Amino acid sequence: MKITVKALMELAVIVHKQCGIVLSKNKAYLIEDKLEPLIRGYGLSSFEELVAGAKNSPQMTDHIVDRITTNETSFFRDKKPYDLLREKLLPDWQAGRGRTPGSLNIWSCACSTGQEVYSIAITLMEYFKEKPFNHHIRIKATDISDSAIATASRGRYSEFEAGRGLDEARLKNYFTWEGGYWKIRDDLRSMAYFEKMNLLQPKIEYHQFDIIFCRNVAIYFSKTDRRSLFQNLSACLSDKGALIIGATESLFDISEQLKRVEYNGIAYYIPDHRPG
Ligand SMILES: C[S@@+](CC[C@H](N)C(=O)[O-])C[C@H]1O[C@@H](n2cnc3c(N)ncnc32)[C@H](O)[C@@H]1O
Repeated sequence: MKITVKALMELAVIVHKQCGIVLSKNKAYLIEDKLEPLIRGYGLSSFEELVAGAKNSPQMTDHIVDRITTNETSFFRDKKPYDLLREKLLPDWQAGRGRTPGSLNIWSCACSTGQEVYSIAITLMEYFKEKPFNHHIRIKATDISDSAIATASRGRYSEFEAGRGLDEARLKNYFTWEGGYWKIRDDLRSMAYFEKMNLLQPKIEYHQFDIIFCRNVAIYFSKTDRRSLFQNLSACLSDKGALIIGATESLFDISEQLKRVEYNGIAYYIPDHRPG
């Protein structure tokens, strides 16, 4: 089934308004692939009908966004952010706290199906096992996709998904084999809380986070939306906080509030007013 230029343009407006993702004309074939099953599922016969339906149905729009989003992820993706967490950010956080019990607040803000969240949780568990501390850990995990956030919250992965990034020892230590799936252990699962959230909605209920992971999502947004996203994220980073973005991303010419720093060749961002 082919999408017409007019339907594509209208769809692009709907998708951009709903989640910030920019649909480009040269990706028409991808959009056709992703949305054709939805058209059939709704018993429709064309992209025009889908677009017309979406204009009057928030639920249909949600389904479109759910299909359009790219949920590609894996456990310990790119590895380096987790080295940074273990070797630099957690020791700094712990040193800053002295011996005072405190809560460590982390946000995985486009967490997809949860592999990033559980990779953070495993890193924390391994770190604090070696360096015990009286802390309370809260990992906020959000994504705009209903199906991705439901999978993340379930914490259950196929053999194939688990094999992407988890070694044998971590798999056996932190997951149990249940009904043909690897299920994350309850104590790791309970470190996180999951919510559907649009990062580009005008009002996000912000909180002061010690560490924010915002990886591989801003690449889908326009420059204007990227600027406002990182302005908002900088407002909810604590003074001593750190922001981690994707391996191929940069905030050059995007954020004046955040400053790039490096640890062992791994880049991350801190509030600009902080000496770094
Ligand atoms: C490629 S995945 C990245 C997952 C993970 N952060 C990683 O790096 O492995 C991008 C995620 O961003 C989510 N996303 C796209 N637009 C969003 C928006 N406006 N608000 C929140 N999440 C969004 C998608 O649903 C998708 O799950």
